[in-house]
Amino acid sequence: MKKSFLDYIIRNRLPVTLFVVVASFAVTYYATSAARDGVGYTPSQPINFSHKLHAGDMKIDCQYCHIGVEKTRFATVPAVATCMNCHTVARKDKPEIIKLTKYYREDKPIPWKRIHKVPDYAYFNHSVHVNKGIECTACHGEVANMEKVGQMNSFTMGSCLNCHRNAHDKLPELKNKIKPGPEYCSACHR
Ligand code: HEC
Ligand code: HEC
Ligand code: HEC
Ligand code: HEC
Ligand code: HEC
Repeated sequence: MKKSFLDYIIRNRLPVTLFVVVASFAVTYYATSAARDGVGYTPSQPINFSHKLHAGDMKIDCQYCHIGVEKTRFATVPAVATCMNCHTVARKDKPEIIKLTKYYREDKPIPWKRIHKVPDYAYFNHSVHVNKGIECTACHGEVANMEKVGQMNSFTMGSCLNCHRNAHDKLPELKNKIKPGPEYCSACHR
């Protein structure tokens, strides 16, 4: 009695259950692919900082604030003290600058929301790209025109490899200076 009931379940219910599991996985997978890629993610930040104003209109060099980008793996986001080089004076009566000054006085880091991120098991390094002359815009888009930074390109394995394989077509101006990027696994999974 028990056995035939089990038979019934295996024969009739299991395929249906499996189908439902696989189908809902597939639907979720495709429905969330944009979120996993991160493209378009443009969060509101704790301080309404504008790249268009600072890097675009005022032409402050990217590396004035992102000091790690030529030397290390990480570009780094500037400490409040960097902002205060100017904002102890500039616009100090404005609400956003009053907020900024409060972080500085209380010696608290600003909780900026991270936008671009590759998983920890993958290895990315800014300096190897930037030192070869690859511009920030090749990966991040026209940040100097953005009021609010958002992710423009996906940083999936496929998109890294797409540039690595076709680097000479993607970056024709650097043709004589760069090698194609590596495709062997341990370059990015070390
Ligand atoms: C005055 C300082 C300053 C300058 C100049 C500046 N940035 Fe930024 N940048 C920041 C701050 C602060 C953040 C974090 C808040 C935000 O995302 O807007 C940031 C965030 C970013 C991010 C997103 C980081 C993440 O979380 O993934 C990118 C990409 C970026 N900047 C690129 C650039 C580029 C390219 C330039 C030059 C065209 C530039 N920045 C110039 C201060 C600066
Ligand atoms: C090299 C000088 C300089 C640095 C460094 C700098 N700023 Fe500014 N910032 C200015 C100036 C000048 C203005 C006003 C520009 C204007 O309104 O024409 C301004 C405007 C602003 C405003 C708009 C204020 C308002 O409401 O009018 C905010 C917010 C701001 N900055 C945040 C920041 C933050 C956050 C940082 C650090 C990541 C920073 N700034 C770094 C010079 C600087
Ligand atoms: C070859 C592509 C590429 C180039 C070129 C590039 N970036 Fe990035 N950037 C990335 C990737 C990928 C991440 C995410 C890295 C991670 O999660 O470790 C990132 C992250 C960042 C971040 C977040 C904080 C951090 O340290 O990771 C900032 C800020 C940033 N980039 C600024 C810049 C600036 C400024 C330039 C130009 C001087 C630049 N990037 C050039 C691909 C690039
Ligand atoms: C816009 C093109 C471009 C994109 C996008 C890009 N790369 Fe690269 N990458 C290159 C080029 C070109 C080189 C080789 C430069 C040279 O050695 O001349 C390189 C080199 C590297 C290296 C070798 C560094 C070394 O030790 O020699 C690593 C690791 C790497 N990239 C990781 C990544 C990862 C991870 C991503 C995606 C998140 C990525 N790259 C996205 C163009 C790109
Ligand atoms: C140019 C850099 C690069 C190279 C080379 C590379 N990977 Fe990746 N890989 C990444 C990045 C970045 C991610 C994380 C982003 C993502 O999920 O696509 C990743 C994710 C993965 C994942 C997680 C599953 C997935 O697709 O999300 C596996 C498994 C993987 N890589 C295996 C490999 C193998 C095997 C090789 C060699 C044949 C390889 N990778 C070569 C950059 C690279």
